[in-house]
Amino acid sequence: DLPSHVTIWEVGPRDGLQNEKSVVDLDVKLEFVDRLADAGLRTIEATSFVHPKWVPQLADAAELLAGMSTRDGVRYPVLVPNERGLDRALEAGVSHIAIFASATETFARKNLNRTLDSQFEMFDPVVGRARAEGLEVRGYLSMCFGDPWEGRVPAAQVVAAGRRLLDMGCSQLSLGDTIGVATPGQVEALIAGFGSPDQLAVHFHDTYGQALANTLAALQCGVSTVDSSAGGLGGCPYAESATGNLATEDLVWMLDGLGLSHGVDLNKLADTSAWMATRLGRPSPSRVVQALRG
Ligand code: HMG
Ligand code: MG
Repeated sequence: DLPSHVTIWEVGPRDGLQNEKSVVDLDVKLEFVDRLADAGLRTIEATSFVHPKWVPQLADAAELLAGMSTRDGVRYPVLVPNERGLDRALEAGVSHIAIFASATETFARKNLNRTLDSQFEMFDPVVGRARAEGLEVRGYLSMCFGDPWEGRVPAAQVVAAGRRLLDMGCSQLSLGDTIGVATPGQVEALIAGFGSPDQLAVHFHDTYGQALANTLAALQCGVSTVDSSAGGLGGCPYAESATGNLATEDLVWMLDGLGLSHGVDLNKLADTSAWMATRLGRPSPSRVVQALRG
């Protein structure tokens, strides 16, 4: 059964821009976030409070939040890896954070400089303090299907790591196909492994062109929050072969066809992605943006 309403979790300003070779100007980022809100997106992941040397593209996180014109009814979550990141996020006045764990040992080391086990020790005080401050906390889990160094990742390993994040106090768990290798059968099996779709979200990268098919499989399993990035921007600088996220426009086109509500104005969004493509100097990889604005 498909959910009647789908919550689109827009990650363009964060997952999209973190992977750009060049650092996008603060003014462009501010306009991007504002245009996404204007297009009807109600959850816009704005930036990351990670180490600025690890992700220089998002080193202006504090300036971005200080300059952002926030709107009522729109959430602007930010990524936070550790207590130093939480201090910075609290100082910036955020109300929603996302921690991000790895389902595999190799990626925990590459992305967080921690072992699989010690990443949870890093997150535990972050979640505890954030919740005590009244913040909402999402947990991301990366490499849920395949890992460039370890190959196919067993569902049981993913479920075990995901449960640790939920038990820690994350209200939602986003299952990440960081390198875009998943196929729909694998998606169904993993969601079934969790027992219930209620706290799950899905986060697909489109490397092998499967993101939309995987999303439909997840919706059919009862998942109702889907991560995507405007124009299909994105990737992860610490994961070989990760390309852009599922494009929000491609998602919206499918949801419209299925008659599922989402609140996004496709024309305004495609205009925004076409504008961003000009700023970045290359066309959007989204098929829907190409069809509408190409
Ligand atoms: P580390 O080097 O182990 O850090 O990095 P540390 O704890 O040893 O601290 C070293 C120094 O860094 C200290 O300063 C800290 O204060 C400072 P010193 O005392 O030497 O002067 N420091 C910080 N400064 C600013 N902000 C901070 C911070 N933390 C420490 N937050 C760390 C560990 C986690 C910080 C590092 O590995 C890191 O920043 N990693 C982030 C990598 C990243 O952002 N990856 C992309 C996001 S994940 C993703 O894209 C996947 C996702 O989309 C889902 C999917 O697709 O699967 C979410
Ligand atoms: Mg991602």
